[in-house]
Amino acid sequence: MQFPRLAALLGTTFCYAVTSVAQAQTKATASAKNSGSTVNKQAALTTNDTKINALIKQMTLEEKVKMIHANSAFAAGGIPRLGIPEIGTSDGPHGVRPEQGRDWKPVDNPNNAGTYLPTNNTLASTWNPALGYAYGTVLGSEANFRGKDIILGPGINIIRAPLNGRNFEYLSEDPYLISQMVVGYIRGVQDQGVSACVKHYAANNQETHRSDVDVNMSERALREIYLPGFQAAVQQGGVYSLMGSYNKFRGQYTTENAYLMNTILKGEWGFKGLVISDWGSTHNTMDALRNGTDLEMGTDLALASQGTAQDGGQIGGGPKPIYTPALYERFYLASPALDAARKDPTLVPLIDDKVRRILRVMYATNMLGGAKRQPGSHNTKEHQATALKVAEEGIVLLKNDGILPLKKTVKTVAVIGANATRENAGGGGSAQLKGKYEITPLQGLKNELGNTATITYAQGYKIARDQKADPALIAEAVAAAKAAEVVVFVGGSFHGYDYTKWSDNAYDAEDTDKPDMNMPFGQDELVKAVLAANPNTVVVLLGGGPIDVSAWAGQTKAIVEAWYPGMEGGNALAHILFGDVNPSGKLPFTFPVKLEDSPAHKLGEYPSTPGNPLKVTYKDDVYVGYRYFDTYKVAPQFAFGHGLSYTSFKYDKLSVTPGTKSATVKLTVTNTGKVAGAEVVQVYVHDEQSSVKRPEKELKGFQKVFLKPGEAKVVTLTLDSGAFQYYDEAKKAWHLEPGKFDVLVGSSSRDIRLTGNVTL
Ligand code: BGC
Repeated sequence: MQFPRLAALLGTTFCYAVTSVAQAQTKATASAKNSGSTVNKQAALTTNDTKINALIKQMTLEEKVKMIHANSAFAAGGIPRLGIPEIGTSDGPHGVRPEQGRDWKPVDNPNNAGTYLPTNNTLASTWNPALGYAYGTVLGSEANFRGKDIILGPGINIIRAPLNGRNFEYLSEDPYLISQMVVGYIRGVQDQGVSACVKHYAANNQETHRSDVDVNMSERALREIYLPGFQAAVQQGGVYSLMGSYNKFRGQYTTENAYLMNTILKGEWGFKGLVISDWGSTHNTMDALRNGTDLEMGTDLALASQGTAQDGGQIGGGPKPIYTPALYERFYLASPALDAARKDPTLVPLIDDKVRRILRVMYATNMLGGAKRQPGSHNTKEHQATALKVAEEGIVLLKNDGILPLKKTVKTVAVIGANATRENAGGGGSAQLKGKYEITPLQGLKNELGNTATITYAQGYKIARDQKADPALIAEAVAAAKAAEVVVFVGGSFHGYDYTKWSDNAYDAEDTDKPDMNMPFGQDELVKAVLAANPNTVVVLLGGGPIDVSAWAGQTKAIVEAWYPGMEGGNALAHILFGDVNPSGKLPFTFPVKLEDSPAHKLGEYPSTPGNPLKVTYKDDVYVGYRYFDTYKVAPQFAFGHGLSYTSFKYDKLSVTPGTKSATVKLTVTNTGKVAGAEVVQVYVHDEQSSVKRPEKELKGFQKVFLKPGEAKVVTLTLDSGAFQYYDEAKKAWHLEPGKFDVLVGSSSRDIRLTGNVTL
């Protein structure tokens, strides 16, 4: 069996992708080294403060206020008299969105079609921070090309529950994995001279009632689970912009939340950049002025309050509003802020601070200060190769009884399932894209096999509202399965993409959560019929989150999770299925057997507290994802960190050496199989005795190791004090309680191969 692409990566015959990824590796390694230091990357943003303060002195109050609210759908500010341009934003987060028009009338721009990267959860599944950097580089470069100053991504909210419609835009259930992946993404974008905008701060873990739900949780859950990704984005990633979320937190809207914005973000973490509201997430002029909202974005408030949309009537249909510049004068941070500051001049320094932060981002992105904007590039082979690489490393092999990789000598393949031919770039809501092209799974298989095999296709099920299993389509699929040597079933979830009716397409889309964790449109029935017709069936799932596969998982020989794998997704999938690429993706969140097993659901706290639809209390506390499944001994369908390979890895020679408040973990990993492959070595920490209850284990280190057959590598990981601490609510501080800690090293959270310990 050959693995030419992986071989190229390991050998000397580097192609485009590998060159850019290798460069990314070097930069990401440098980034990682820096991130280990205590240097807060925010300091760099203040370099031009003297010039900025001088500029602010020249502004009238009216001009200052003009800077802090939108003037159209995605742009704000602009003071030609002082040479200050408008600031322009674009979604995000896995490509640059087609032009929406200043007035939300989409513009038919020939450059709308760009690189469609795999979704953020696919990126997280690579467990490869260097790919985070490469991914960000593509986004930054295409944003430059399209003249965008801020790209509205990455999305990093914790994947708390399986049904969140935006899980595809997020990274993981684990704060450490998020922190490691987010830094590369941000640096990749910002090294192109474009601002990333990490979102949605904070506790925006569901779409149901996203605009008015009040999220409550313990301080410990906030600090240990929901904030570390944002803190890493700020302090290690040096992110220039951050987006507030729609929901409330402890009774106050997050975007103007004194505790989240002033105390934590701008206080404790030293954030010097720009807080942007989500589109329509500002609710009160005085709160926004005082509590850290720097730039109000969105659309007309009156229309928004009629429920016709925070963002241009996209959500829920409704009459299309007419946008005129005068509408933007009604924003909370427009005329009302001006009036307030005229009456009370002590508010002016607050406005100055907002303008200062906007100008800092403008300097950092070469919009001011005489530096030239980088031209960027669009739809290059390198960008497409990065899309391919991320998909190849992000697709996860969940189950394999030996049927995979498929043999290239196969003569007949039946491809079954509507997802095999569906294009997904346009799906999901504000993350919608127009890809330059999109290789569907069916096309990828055709590219792979050329005319060496006959490929038949049966749709199997229909994607349509309230659609149930269709007997005629099932019969057709069964006939195709019977006539073929192997079957590749491509189903799972799908992206709702008719954005005038998002809630009609309630799967993996913004503003709506999924109704359940099942495969829609009668797919379980279809899969069972296909498996009965031909046991040589590989099931490929597409989707943004876990799917209940319990009805047939035991009967199928292989399951592959392909997420939404981007414009090269079909090729990546075929490379994995036929063994050109050895799978190395790992799950960034747990697949429960049943939805009820997931802690938020078990505790009845999703999407709201029973009897109170506008409130949710995270009673699951720090027990999110595997922290719950492992502590409370609930068997998952597939564990966090799980992902199979076509080779095998041996772990040995573990040593754990204590430092002052740290430990160095060293081990050897050997590829004991016949093909090259990559293993994600995962390090979890278990506190043997603690004065507070702690999760059974927590991820505190990982490294992706590429190994040729027979090759062994020594892996060294440093666990700093953060790896052993918990958040002490009484002391309001992190605490390293002395004692013995087990260090568990393995291939997933449930496949621990070596155990050591350290006493600190
Ligand atoms: C989304 C944001 C997005 C913004 C602009 C909002 O509805 O929540 O993630 O960046 O729209 O499109």
